[in-house]
Amino acid sequence: MNRPLLIGPFTQLLPMRNLPLKGALKDEQLTIIQNGGILVSEGKILKIGVFNELKSDDVDIHHIEGNHVCLPGFVDSHTHICFGGTRARDYAYRNAGKTYLEIAKAGGGIWDTVTQTRKASQQELVEGIISRSQKHLKNGITTIEVKSGYGLSMDEELKMLRAIQQANETTNATLVPTCLAAHMKPKDWNQNEDYLDVIINELFPIIKAENLANRVDAFVEESAFSPEEIKPYFQKAKEMGFDITVHADQFTTGGSQVAVDFDAVSADHLEASTEKEIQLLAKSNTIATALPGASIGLGCAYTPARKILDAGGSLSIASDHNPGSAPMGDLLTQASILGTFEKLSNTEILSGITFRAAAALRLADRGKLEAGSQADFMVFPTENYQEITYHQGQLKPSQVWKKGTPIH
Ligand code: NIG
Ligand code: FE
Repeated sequence: MNRPLLIGPFTQLLPMRNLPLKGALKDEQLTIIQNGGILVSEGKILKIGVFNELKSDDVDIHHIEGNHVCLPGFVDSHTHICFGGTRARDYAYRNAGKTYLEIAKAGGGIWDTVTQTRKASQQELVEGIISRSQKHLKNGITTIEVKSGYGLSMDEELKMLRAIQQANETTNATLVPTCLAAHMKPKDWNQNEDYLDVIINELFPIIKAENLANRVDAFVEESAFSPEEIKPYFQKAKEMGFDITVHADQFTTGGSQVAVDFDAVSADHLEASTEKEIQLLAKSNTIATALPGASIGLGCAYTPARKILDAGGSLSIASDHNPGSAPMGDLLTQASILGTFEKLSNTEILSGITFRAAAALRLADRGKLEAGSQADFMVFPTENYQEITYHQGQLKPSQVWKKGTPIH
């Protein structure tokens, strides 16, 4: 075994531990270790504490010069970074006041990306995922969920999931794949069998056999699948042992009820959620995920994050990075802006992109800096953690570590 490595000292070390998974959080609850250090071995954290107290003859030291704030690597619990093409035209049309229907008629919308993604080879998709992951890594995001959902046929969904698996072998980030075969009804489906029946009976078993994903997602919305239509899909996914996550309440309600009924790990979007859905989610084990990048990209309302937290719910904040509704893809910028509109404390924002986001992916080994956790962390060149959200994503990490190794 190699000698343990002590990294530090950090002006402020924020381990994000001893914070509850659910409910509102005040900054007074945040643990800040002054002049902190992280002791790492074999990619995992051995100990967190005051740098000088962790020093000994038995450890190697990686010195951090100057003022720095250290945080766990961020987790982006909802993205669509596997895609081909662009939807810049949709964006311009939307801003020019064109309606959803007009944009769809002009050849835009999710189906446009399906067409462009089908044209891309698996290798081209891999390259796209890697380049977007590298950008995320530079911004301190060390774990990234990635959905399929722009294939919408057996072969094309498999191509996407295999591309995500292949990219995961190359990039330093951890990619967490999710099957979103129920993103919308494929416009070109002309087989006798029902699309979802084929997905359930033929695609799910291959995903299991090739270990391509252990999470299944669907877009529950008037323009995609109704709560009734999607039940057999989630029922089968659950029986097969997949975790469930739902695109819920984006424009109309109904999705969060489905999420809670299926004990989903997360219900994401929720821009249209009312008091009823907020209470429902708060009383459940389902983590609410806000996607401010989609609100910014579409010019729509934000997820009622403040109300969700005050009702006792858990809140993850994710980028939803996709070519249509959320083209920006900068998680920290978006989370910081959500904070200004929804009046979130720094602790609520940072929890939403660390341990609460990790919980939305059922990953217990990250999002916090504590003994046994994966040694994923980053340092920001500042002496005060409040500067991080204050600069709304413009203050970038100067170093990012993944599994105990500096990668940026
Ligand atoms: O999460 N809402 C559905 N799906 C994506 C948008 C996908 C697209 O527009 O290409 C979302 O926002
Ligand atoms: Fe999405």
